[in-house]
Amino acid sequence: MSDKFDKMKRATRAIHVGSEPEPITGAVVTPIFQTSTYAQEAPGQARGFEYSRTDNPTRNAYERALAAVEGGRFGLAFASGMAAIDVIMKTLRPGDHILAGNDLYGGTYRLFTTMFQPLGIEFDFLDFAGDFDLTPHIKSNTKMVWLETPTNPLLKVSDIARIAKTAHAKNITVVTDNTFMSPALQQPLDLGADVVVYSTTKYIGGHADTVGGAIVTSDEKLHQKYKTIQNTAGAVPGPFDCFLTHRGLKTLSLRMERHSANALEMARFLESHAKVEKVIYPFLKSHPQYDLACQQQSNGGGMISFIIKGDAEKAARMVAKTEIFALAESLGGVESLIEHPGIMTHASIPAEVRAEQGLSDSLIRLSVGLEDIDDLKKDIDQAF
Ligand SMILES: Cc1ncc(COP(=O)(O)O)c(C=O)c1O
Repeated sequence: MSDKFDKMKRATRAIHVGSEPEPITGAVVTPIFQTSTYAQEAPGQARGFEYSRTDNPTRNAYERALAAVEGGRFGLAFASGMAAIDVIMKTLRPGDHILAGNDLYGGTYRLFTTMFQPLGIEFDFLDFAGDFDLTPHIKSNTKMVWLETPTNPLLKVSDIARIAKTAHAKNITVVTDNTFMSPALQQPLDLGADVVVYSTTKYIGGHADTVGGAIVTSDEKLHQKYKTIQNTAGAVPGPFDCFLTHRGLKTLSLRMERHSANALEMARFLESHAKVEKVIYPFLKSHPQYDLACQQQSNGGGMISFIIKGDAEKAARMVAKTEIFALAESLGGVESLIEHPGIMTHASIPAEVRAEQGLSDSLIRLSVGLEDIDDLKKDIDQAF
């Protein structure tokens, strides 16, 4: 990123980095270079691009924008969030030990336990919430700390700066999955994390029309490893998906403000509702890590979890009755979604593990979209 962009705020960078006028036509939007290969002037003399698995101008522009918005030096785009997570994990070796949060996205937990554990990577899943102390859990072979904050779906908030400080004293890499917050609301690299990973399928893309992932870091050595795996294993997004996700990135900060405003109002509404047992939202005063959330996040984000009064069946019936909220997995799009984690997104976590973690079968998760909040409240109310 040039000095000019360095001085700009994130929302400005999101619009201008990687969107410099195209040199031939002056197009203000980076074109979709829908090409697999590039003509060379002589054998081995390419004009900067050889093959689109390695590099593609549309993808590279988007990757520069991702890095700039995060405040990191290097950005890489992947075909899905899971592909990005898989790349980070592939830098580990048998015998390495990972300390991971115990309330991760179900797909991440599945990747760790069914693909990497059998390859000899050791995991301890811990509740990192609040002022958790990493020290007693570190072993001589601990290589990485993996955290999500707020977690999915219990929205527990972990102290990134505190965890990173302890980990760095032992040369341990800290990776933060920042999907729920996005770089608009939380900046893990500034707080001390080494690597930030995203499912861009969610808030960064923002319109529920692409599946993608990203890694941002300022550590050149790590970046080179990830870039090598990106090119070697090849889980890259196509140019059109890069174009769409880059377009989403440009309106991210604006959308996150509205997602957060709508979600806070919805959380307060639910908290006062007779049919609700408990509401979990980081910017509600009742949240156990409210102070930490206010310090670490610039807003509460668009995700709410709540426990309905009644059993799992009642919760399953309620989520099927909304008219504006679509009953669907995923999150972070302009449209509001409702889901039952125990049956849907987190079904890949065994029932006994879910119970241990406090993931109740009466828990419902909302991704609060950008619709008029009055309509959203009415919809939830009628579904009860
Ligand atoms: C926090 C988090 N990380 C990673 C992923 C995986 O991303 P993707 O579905 O794009 O592969 C998800 C998907 O829901 C997620 O919620």
